[in-house]
Amino acid sequence: MSGIWIFGYGSLIWRPAMAFRTSRVARLAGWTRRFWQGSHDHRGLPHAPGRVVTLVAAPQASCDGLAYLVDRDVVETVFRNLDHREKNGYERHAVRLTFRDGGVVDAIVYIAAVGNHAWLGPAGDEEMVRQICQAAGPSGANIDYLNDLAAALRDLEIKDPHVFRLESMARAFMARQEGGDGHTIRQASSKL
Ligand code: SIN
Repeated sequence: MSGIWIFGYGSLIWRPAMAFRTSRVARLAGWTRRFWQGSHDHRGLPHAPGRVVTLVAAPQASCDGLAYLVDRDVVETVFRNLDHREKNGYERHAVRLTFRDGGVVDAIVYIAAVGNHAWLGPAGDEEMVRQICQAAGPSGANIDYLNDLAAALRDLEIKDPHVFRLESMARAFMARQEGGDGHTIRQASSKL
């Protein structure tokens, strides 16, 4: 079997949009998932960026996600498409994954490094939630990204306190918005 493993930890989990042979839950040691990357092209706009996940180095931590095995004969096309999709600050990195059901493999992951042009960095949870609840871009509402990620992680039985905390705070924020002035601030809130 000749192919390349690609590790997804954000939107690549629920919307891989690539041809792959199989997928397996895997763990990347030394990195943690954070809503610290700005999105000016998918879930926000240049003047009002959204927040999406990237990986931040954390020697004692790890990030669970989904690894996709892509056949060599389509890998060039897959990387061309992913490079375009992840162009707002993400770069390919070679990493080593451990599958949940055992085994180790080399893989490629897209990481938006600290200080890249779209980097937002850490902020208080309330501030991040407000930004996520209010931003939207060509790929949709930022809150849908958060909710879809949380749902996908739950489906895969992956625990991520950072994501689940923001999800629950965002639900409360949207409920307050709806309750406060009697109308939804955006259609997406009806999904909550
Ligand atoms: C990923 O999903 O692996 C990268 C970040 C994203 O596109 O949300």
